[in-house]
Amino acid sequence: MASNRTFTSPALTFELVARCSVTRARASILTLPHGTVNLPIFMPVATQASLKGLTPEQLEDTGCRLCLNNTYHLGLKPGQEVLDAVGGAHKFQGWNYNILTDSGGFQMVSLLKLANITEEGVRFLSPHDGSPMLLTPEHSMSLQNSIGSDIMMQLDDVLVTTSPDTARMREAMERSVRWLDRCIAAHKNPDTQNLFCIIQGGLDLDMRRECCREMLARNTPGIAIGGLSGGEAKDDFCKVVAACTELLPDLKPRYVMGIGYPEDLVVSVALGADMFDCVWPTRTARFGNATTKHGVLNMKREMYAADFGPIENGCGCPCCRPVEEEGSMGITRAFVHHNAAKETVAAHLLTLHNVWYQLDLMRQARQAIIEDRFPAFVKSFFGNLYPDSS
Ligand code: GUN
Ligand code: ZN
Repeated sequence: MASNRTFTSPALTFELVARCSVTRARASILTLPHGTVNLPIFMPVATQASLKGLTPEQLEDTGCRLCLNNTYHLGLKPGQEVLDAVGGAHKFQGWNYNILTDSGGFQMVSLLKLANITEEGVRFLSPHDGSPMLLTPEHSMSLQNSIGSDIMMQLDDVLVTTSPDTARMREAMERSVRWLDRCIAAHKNPDTQNLFCIIQGGLDLDMRRECCREMLARNTPGIAIGGLSGGEAKDDFCKVVAACTELLPDLKPRYVMGIGYPEDLVVSVALGADMFDCVWPTRTARFGNATTKHGVLNMKREMYAADFGPIENGCGCPCCRPVEEEGSMGITRAFVHHNAAKETVAAHLLTLHNVWYQLDLMRQARQAIIEDRFPAFVKSFFGNLYPDSS
């Protein structure tokens, strides 16, 4: 069912709210089984059913209403039996908002590098005991059904190199289409869980277009663009995203996987993408780094030792916003610096700030699209980041 603004499928509604008149940027509302989320959106990554350094309540306070879990990690621990017994990952982690699960294969290929992909699935040695394991499209779907994620990703054959092995790239693209068919056939809860396809095809635009056509014919409620975030040139990245978004239907959510640098988010929104995820903002927080509109600040640097300002002036996050009590400075850069090298409190605070930063960047982009001033927003964003280059 579709009007010219709304697409409805059993477990999702997508409503287009506004479009930029210059770029392909869009603002929309995505309604999922665990509530509504505004797009464009950044989704923080809670690989093992928790976002490192934040409680579910703190994550909720950032405004996050959709986060990522990984199928493979949850399938190993706590395992399918525990997930079935507790009634899924929402209950297991005390998170009553939406969850998106990646299918697991990509993590194996990128983490272990020992994975071996055949038509059957992804073969690898268990990181726990070294025993041989096989993740098939059917097994990934079964795990994601037990997890109960609001958005499930198909198992895909993804190459982590940007090497121009065209034959292998074609095999991976075509296999991903076949694996989508197997995922669709194995999906037990299509009325309550959304399965998204993943477009592959490397940096070859014709192969990407061919993949788009094949995937779109399978009519999933949402579409992801995969195989990026592997260190490709920015120019190639943009060309691939643009070639795909040009062919994608207006009224379905578009997710670029593994994207998390603020610049890449803003550019991808301009190219017509709606959803993003990456471990970078939370990982870099644990290394003592704060994301700000003027770039990344390494709070371990000596220059912050007596800096009594907030992590970022004007930031609305629970660490930076001005405190009411008289005589209190709140959380200062000096405090974060003091703890950054040794105490986990700095990691907690910076994680909170960085997650807030990413979510707020997308909130601001969305507001700018709605008010039809997105190009000015992009200009000001890059002007703040690179003040000398204008
Ligand atoms: N995360 C980042 N890129 C990808 C991809 O291409 N496929 C999957 N499944 N996950 C990803
Ligand atoms: Zn902040």
